[in-house]
Amino acid sequence: MDISERILKYLSNSENVDTLKLASEFNEDHQKIVGAVKSIEALEMVISEAVKSTKWELTDEGHSVASAGSHEAVLYRGIPEEGILQAEVMKKVPNAKVGFSKAMSLGWIFIDKSGGAPIVKRKVSSIQDIVQENLNEIKKGIDNLAENVRNDYKKRKLLQEITLKSFILRKGPQFATTIKKLETDLTSEMILSGSWKTLQFKPYNFEALVRSEFREIFLEMGFEEMPTNQYIESSFWNFDALFQPQQHPARDAHDTFFISSPASTTQFPMDYLERVKKVHSEGGFGSQGYRYEWKIEEAQKNLLRTHTTAVSARMLYQLAQQKTFTPRKYFSIDKVFRNETLDATHLAEFQQVEGVVAARGLGLADLISLLDAFFRRLGFHRLQFKPAYNPYTEPSMEIFAYHEEIGNSGVFRPEMLLPMGLPEDVSVIAWGLSLERPTMIKYGLNNIRDLVGPKVDLQMVQNNPICRLDK
Ligand code: PHE
Repeated sequence: MDISERILKYLSNSENVDTLKLASEFNEDHQKIVGAVKSIEALEMVISEAVKSTKWELTDEGHSVASAGSHEAVLYRGIPEEGILQAEVMKKVPNAKVGFSKAMSLGWIFIDKSGGAPIVKRKVSSIQDIVQENLNEIKKGIDNLAENVRNDYKKRKLLQEITLKSFILRKGPQFATTIKKLETDLTSEMILSGSWKTLQFKPYNFEALVRSEFREIFLEMGFEEMPTNQYIESSFWNFDALFQPQQHPARDAHDTFFISSPASTTQFPMDYLERVKKVHSEGGFGSQGYRYEWKIEEAQKNLLRTHTTAVSARMLYQLAQQKTFTPRKYFSIDKVFRNETLDATHLAEFQQVEGVVAARGLGLADLISLLDAFFRRLGFHRLQFKPAYNPYTEPSMEIFAYHEEIGNSGVFRPEMLLPMGLPEDVSVIAWGLSLERPTMIKYGLNNIRDLVGPKVDLQMVQNNPICRLDK
């Protein structure tokens, strides 16, 4: 039986269940359970509600204390019957400094200075290692620590609080314990026989249709597609190359998913990296820079790219390596990731559409007319622009259609382009937008979950059978 069916079986015997409970019950990875839930939720077999809970967990140090004993107990056990020179025990026992002061304050040991050099002796004949016992309980999932004890362990970095995201599942309108296969094609036989009336169909993926439409528009306008098949980027290409200072809030773990393994990259075009470092820390190319100490360690950190502008930066750098510059038009449509609080219009990953034009002597007027041509093809006729800020473009403009923000754009700054080696008279204009936004506006949706994911309304899909943007 696969996980989806096991979940359905479980739900048939209970009102609701938390996915975390299922993970421990089935002895499966929680992520796997959530994946299975998404597929049965798309079939309306279950309904899920996201919940957050917190839990205390052992740190790595906590785990070693749980198995080897607390530092104070290890120190106590390292003292023989007759005592030991303090200098010696401090060398012999791991974490002796912490262990010593804790064992002293617990009254387990004392120092005898009567013979000259200080000797550490046991003060009590036996000890109870409560720290180790408590940590082992928590490891087993039993947590009845008093608040002050918990805080103490937290301060000692033995415990950490983690946030768990899970889902409460309930039976959905299509609940059943076995999964029916959905039809993907409406055939002439189905129409003739009338079987289409009772068959169940897989929902349309609107996004794929809008995506191919965007792609067509770019191709018709003479743009080349950029290679976007690399979700993991270094901070260097995602931020530094774009003149985004290392203290910028977007570079915080709250906004960006950093990769823990491999945590960093060391392969960069080093002469270019040196120029990026210089323009950030000292300035250059007519700019005074940000004047801070630029650190390569920050640039090396791997992350899930937060925008496809990282890809644009790589392409522009490559373009700058040509002997003679040739004007280029590039586009991309692919996934980006942001560690955002999920709400009606934000998910942690979304598709970004981006266009970039590099040519001599381009300016804001060219950008506006290009955006106008591009969005006109999408069916948005009345664009409005508002000044905006990006670290890498100046000027920058937010793009609005019928008062709804749909994109962001600008003229790339010299601080970004000149370190790459592009000729001084070459300008680059660019814009970016999410694939989901115009699609939502187009279909009058105000919750992103109506478009992406398991809550998509099939009626809406049926009422919009021809998925093309009006031209
Ligand atoms: N990178 C910007 C974003 O993620 C979009 C953008 C692209 C802005 C190119 C200006 C130029 O919102």
